Amino acid sequence: MENKEIGLEFSIKSGALDKQRSACVVVGVFENRKLTGSAVAIDQASGGYLAGILRGGDMDGKAGSTLLLHTVPDILADRVLLIGLGKERDFQEKTYRDAVQTTLRTLRDTGSTEAVIALTEVPLKQRDVTWNVTQAVIAAHEALYRFDTLKSKPAETRRPLKRVVFAVAKRGELKAAETGLARGLAIAHGMTLAKNLGNLPSNICTPDYLASTARKMAKTYGFGCEILDYAACDKLGMGSFLSVGKGSDKPPRFIVLKHQGGPKQQKPVVLVGKAITFDSGGISIKPAPDMDEMNYDMSGGGAVMGAFRAMGELGLKLNVIGLIPSCENMPDAAANKPGDIVTSMSGQTIEILNTDAEGRLILCDALTYAERFEPDAVIDLATLTGACVIALGAHPSALFSNHDPLARDIEQAADTAWDRVWRMPLWDDYQEQLKSSLADMANIGGRPGGSITAACFLSRFAKKYHWAHLDIAGVAYKGGRDKGSTGRPVSLLVHYLLQRARP
Ligand code: BES
Ligand code: MN
Ligand code: ZN
Repeated sequence: MENKEIGLEFSIKSGALDKQRSACVVVGVFENRKLTGSAVAIDQASGGYLAGILRGGDMDGKAGSTLLLHTVPDILADRVLLIGLGKERDFQEKTYRDAVQTTLRTLRDTGSTEAVIALTEVPLKQRDVTWNVTQAVIAAHEALYRFDTLKSKPAETRRPLKRVVFAVAKRGELKAAETGLARGLAIAHGMTLAKNLGNLPSNICTPDYLASTARKMAKTYGFGCEILDYAACDKLGMGSFLSVGKGSDKPPRFIVLKHQGGPKQQKPVVLVGKAITFDSGGISIKPAPDMDEMNYDMSGGGAVMGAFRAMGELGLKLNVIGLIPSCENMPDAAANKPGDIVTSMSGQTIEILNTDAEGRLILCDALTYAERFEPDAVIDLATLTGACVIALGAHPSALFSNHDPLARDIEQAADTAWDRVWRMPLWDDYQEQLKSSLADMANIGGRPGGSITAACFLSRFAKKYHWAHLDIAGVAYKGGRDKGSTGRPVSLLVHYLLQRARP
């Protein structure tokens, strides 16, 4: 299955929009009829036409409102699309991103083939032009993404939007805007890959499918790539990882990706992503409702692949390793049974009291494997616990770390990426809940603080380096009408890596 892009061409321009030839020029309007920069220019050139429309009450500037105008006098553009931005005082990141998404959806539905969007010139507190353009490109992809490769007849758009130009106010801002464009495209493409992998059902997206996707990507961008099969993992002593896949007929794969963008002696960042291609729960089987969603349980691995795609496109000057343990969690005669005890690659033994707590069982061996790279930092990503969704809902990823500076760097990247995290405690007090009478530890710690005890379990395998864990169970996909994979937290990861790659 090829991963399909949204088929749009993006570019940047600067200067006044009243003399812009275009099928559609898009400008922002705040509440109380306050026009943004380019809207003022168009209003003046058209002899106060926009002000007149607003005074007439056709558009109130409320966030989410739109008004499409044809034949505005003395303007070279065929149409002018007004986008409501809400109260100027309340204008912030979310309103900005929402406005860009509204714009793209409106343009798609009105059949414009090409447009110049001036929302990128509207300033936000503490954000620069690069940020505005990066986020606009990501939001545009967000708005137009569709996953219809599995329908026998994909819906055809009547006159699909082909070209989008983002406008900035001054010529001097062009370079910063181009940087934002390149970043936004790389991140959006990485997110699209993560979304496509997440949305594919488990009968297509198997561990082997992920492995061949990684191999293809490695070839395109010149990454190193190693795929460890059952025998190779067995030789390494990955008893915990291998135990999870035993109930499935799909063989496990341990995927290793290497991006050598920095100097040889530079210690790498290691990204570890949970990739359970289907989580039935195993013998501790899950209830039937919503079990279909468990094909998203490879989203951590998908996000690592997405981040690699972005790194490849950007030619990121940093050494990064990606580790993706992948298998399927199924009930079967050969499957793990409650009470089974396995030996992890670290030598620590684990009593499997619940076969549905399988994510930590595959991650722990990947965390031990990470030691061989003498990493500067290790970040793992996993749809690890339902408890995380109960604690934080769908908005932030839960962040756990054994190193405060690393946690702060991730918090900062998350804020810039607008792919937010919320720090959770990793106190020793919780470790007690993992006591086992027969093995070194149990794989579950009871219901209280379920996402924390899961992180505590992982921390026992991450003692030799600076480590952070992101529980993405709440953010990786959304249910309901717009059901599907979100591509999070690819943007956070890429922003974190960009932050580090800066001299
Ligand atoms: N993949 C699930 C976590 C999950 C649940 C993600 C719901 C997204 C939505 C994970 O493998 C799991 O089953 N965790 C168990 C752990 C429990 C048995 C300690 C859970 O959260 O119920
Ligand atoms: Mn599970
Ligand atoms: Zn799982």
